[in-house]
Amino acid sequence: MSVSASSKAQVYLDTHRTISPISPLLFSGFVEHIGRAVYEGIYEPASPHADERGLRKDVMAALREINYRSMRYPGGNFLSGYRWEDGVGPREQRPRRRDLAWQSIETNQFGTNEFIDFCKAINTEPMLGVNMGTGTIQDAANLIEYCNADVGSQYADLRASHGYTAPHAVKYWCLGNEMDGPWQIGHLEAAEYGAKAREAAKMMRWHDPSIELILCGSSNSNMPTYPEWDRVALEWCWDVVDYHSMHYYANNRDNDTASYLALSAEFESFVDTLTGVLRYVKAKKRSKHDVYLSWDEWNVWYKASGRTFDQGKWTQAPHLVEEVYNLEDALVVAQWMNVFLRKSDVLKIACIAQIVNVIAPMLTTSDSLLKQSTYYPFLLFSKLAAGSALDIVVRSPMYQTAKFGDMPLLDVSASYDAANNTNAIFIVNRSQTESVPLELKWQDRAPKSIKAVHQVSGTDPKAANSFENPNLITAVNVAAPSIDGQSATLMLPPLSFTAVEVAL
Ligand code: AHR
Repeated sequence: MSVSASSKAQVYLDTHRTISPISPLLFSGFVEHIGRAVYEGIYEPASPHADERGLRKDVMAALREINYRSMRYPGGNFLSGYRWEDGVGPREQRPRRRDLAWQSIETNQFGTNEFIDFCKAINTEPMLGVNMGTGTIQDAANLIEYCNADVGSQYADLRASHGYTAPHAVKYWCLGNEMDGPWQIGHLEAAEYGAKAREAAKMMRWHDPSIELILCGSSNSNMPTYPEWDRVALEWCWDVVDYHSMHYYANNRDNDTASYLALSAEFESFVDTLTGVLRYVKAKKRSKHDVYLSWDEWNVWYKASGRTFDQGKWTQAPHLVEEVYNLEDALVVAQWMNVFLRKSDVLKIACIAQIVNVIAPMLTTSDSLLKQSTYYPFLLFSKLAAGSALDIVVRSPMYQTAKFGDMPLLDVSASYDAANNTNAIFIVNRSQTESVPLELKWQDRAPKSIKAVHQVSGTDPKAANSFENPNLITAVNVAAPSIDGQSATLMLPPLSFTAVEVAL
């Protein structure tokens, strides 16, 4: 809750008032066969940074630091035309194909097994998609047999012949990608998709009952079929799926920074609407089963090419949608992650789209790596948001936006880690000009100390890191205030994201 007040702000915290445990999968990533995400991003045998498998060691070090808990693959729009058999077995026998989604040449030198090796190398849980566009339910069943079955049948034995005797035990599976979108290869109406996804899910679960399945939801909240698509697909598949997906790409195309910095209002309303749909379908089905939300594509995307899809002109690893992120984008990413915590009762998976080169927190050349502004808020949430999300009360000065009316200057979330007796508070100051003094008030205890205060800030919302100037926007440690009884006061500079680490 946020209400207007004087120019000073307060956040009231009570560690008894929890929303939900924070699902670690909220800090997940997505890598697709598009542009230079796979090739020249994570896999580049010719790079001086490549290991013996061709994986980029510098990229993997940064991915390990950010600690993605799971990784969605291989798409995206690419998924809906992908034949998974192309990407397994001896590399010299793998076909070069035209990828119709991105009009690029796919060499298939990186496929399912290389992806699983890559996940192991960065200590992340694989999340695979099955093709619901050109793919059949049999193809989906074959892929799960290939990945998860013990040897002794055709596809499991094929995996073993490729050098992987033990099953990959992939737990998370996406039933297609953005099947509501007319741009999707093999696009389906909601009921057609629901019927197909249900049958695929049945076969997949018969191969491995331990898997968790993610249904396609609307591609974004502006789709003409939203939220009806979601209701229909969920009614078909309620009892056979575990998660319902949402996608959204934010933009500041109007160059209205005040409204752009208030976008968490839109993110929350997207979650709220889908929460309503989930409750409706659950009630209609008289079901005891729960389905949660998986925000498995989210990010800022508009400068590199807008929301229209780029074309690769039938080349390999073309430079597609290599978005450069600035300070205001980092503040939107931070708010997005605040929403993940505030909605942690229903939101259990979130994958930033994507992890390297293509709309990503990192860019590469063959011998160097750049961490963009958005790397830092993600890193701080991934490191500090543990335990349960707290239901806090925020009193904040307000400001006017053209898009959302009056909005609080501060956007805040908090976590409480009972196991380690720590607490973290995440705050965006949306003001472009004003510092805001903030009083943190713990209602149920006097904390021991503020361990650290990390901050991402700057004076120019458009400031961005570059290979020439890589540290313009980073996270720095600022002076930690002392605790005065049950409160502490800190000054939040304009255009800032602050993460406060507390020892309770
Ligand atoms: O992440 C880029 C693309 O955006 C994905 O392929 C698609 O699912 C979405 O429209």
